[in-house]
Amino acid sequence: MKNLVLIGMPGSGKTKIGRMLSARLKMPLVDTDELVSARAGKTIPELFTQLGEAGFRALETQAVREAAALDGAVIATGGGVVLREENMAALAETGIIFFRDRDPAAIAGEDHKGRPLIGEDREKVFRLYTERIELYRKYARYIISHTDTVAEAESQIAAIYLEEAPKA
Ligand code: S3P
Repeated sequence: MKNLVLIGMPGSGKTKIGRMLSARLKMPLVDTDELVSARAGKTIPELFTQLGEAGFRALETQAVREAAALDGAVIATGGGVVLREENMAALAETGIIFFRDRDPAAIAGEDHKGRPLIGEDREKVFRLYTERIELYRKYARYIISHTDTVAEAESQIAAIYLEEAPKA
């Protein structure tokens, strides 16, 4: 069975939605940030500080390869996964990709202190959204927008996946 892949901005609820989908669909959950952190034995903020963003991205690509090699998993990705085409090619090959397009103003309205990039300042969320929106749209098989809550987004994704995965 194809993997169920979640992409989107940091703060768009990928991890929460991933947990709910994993429970509902009885599929294991893999979070590429957690995989990076577990393999490196360091937190994501530590990796950004010690290796810089480029160093983190290299580890992220390894984690993506590992996750994409699974079968029938829910894969929650880091918000910057779309920055490397090879990540998205690997994920698309074995999975169905969903983009939760959450309003950046809602994301910016929350507290992200201590998180790399979006923790810098409120404007950063809008800058990242503008830089990345075309990539998220390009790589998504399905775009989940106009959902106010993670529960709504999750049930839409589950319904689409249950319909599409057996055919894929
Ligand atoms: C990043 C998002 C983070 C994490 C890292 C970089 C990004 O993941 O991978 O801090 O570039 O958007 P989440 O989207 O899960 O917060």
